[in-house]
Amino acid sequence: MSIVSATEENIEQASQILQSGGVVSFPTETVYGLGCDTLNKEAISLVYTLKNRPNNNPLIAHVSNLGDAKKITNGWDDRCDKLASVFWPGPLTLVLNKNKCVPKEASGGGDTIAVRCPSHKTAIKLLTRFGGPISAPSANVSGHTSPTTAIHVQMDFGNELFVLDGGACDKGIESTVISMVGTPTILRPGSIGADAILKIISDTKVQKSDRQNESPGSSDKHYAPKSKLVLQTKELIQNQHGENIVFLVINATPNIGVLVQMPSNPAEYAKYIYAKIREADSMNPKIIYVEKPPNSPEWEAVNDRLRRASS
Ligand code: TXA
Ligand code: MG
Repeated sequence: MSIVSATEENIEQASQILQSGGVVSFPTETVYGLGCDTLNKEAISLVYTLKNRPNNNPLIAHVSNLGDAKKITNGWDDRCDKLASVFWPGPLTLVLNKNKCVPKEASGGGDTIAVRCPSHKTAIKLLTRFGGPISAPSANVSGHTSPTTAIHVQMDFGNELFVLDGGACDKGIESTVISMVGTPTILRPGSIGADAILKIISDTKVQKSDRQNESPGSSDKHYAPKSKLVLQTKELIQNQHGENIVFLVINATPNIGVLVQMPSNPAEYAKYIYAKIREADSMNPKIIYVEKPPNSPEWEAVNDRLRRASS
């Protein structure tokens, strides 16, 4: 069993596993999720146990339609409508007060719930077949690198888990998370940047978060490979000495070590970032040096993930 292709029959089977309180992994356009029924607290607990996730770190509920998003939240307003009409289905997660139909286990014990409508066609088919919200953190053991292929999921959870294979994820990094409680606040950067969000809700202030602890999963020491990962400028990389080193480079051309070439475009870089970090890590190097991307807004989400992987 384990990894199966995303045929209609297998999506139906995945839906049945969810109906009976089980857990399945499914692809989204960002990363693979570890899904369960949002309204079933035992199923939610199973996800926390499998991931070894601290139970105060809330989960994102995935929906296939606005009706379900409104059902599980309180305070859905015009701003949410605008954001959803532009960015859904897609990699934007909205945090709102939770409706009481959502068990507290699904929101890490807190009063708010994160919700997003993914665009991957397998995710939409599964959500539609299942007929309700599916809570899904990234399908990795807590602290490990996020999975962007079905094989990555299997590497963390083995053969027992039912994984719908939808190919490699297109975006490659997790969704942008924005809190819509009070002043809209970006809690986690993603491929939808602050500029794009400001264009839609320009009447509202969108701050970059200094409230990272409001999104507990955004704490440092995250996405970490086994090997030490160090961010360096092109110049420093160029002059590196030593043995058993892997470099993730954009422009640098060091004379030693193994070179892994990274794309020079931020969206492409994001798409491959986790797979390339895993590739570098699998060589068991003493150290992985990563050439620092530019410090501009379009690189913000990539720089955020690299900073966490290196902390
Ligand atoms: O792209 C994604 O968002 C992927 C796919 C599977 O949808 N999911 C994902 O889930 O990245 P996870 O659990 O790995 O990360 C969710 C992040 C965490 O940082 C968590 O703390 C934050 O969202 N979060 C979830 N619910 C929240 C809430 N109610 N308030 C604040 N932050 C929340
Ligand atoms: Mg995660």
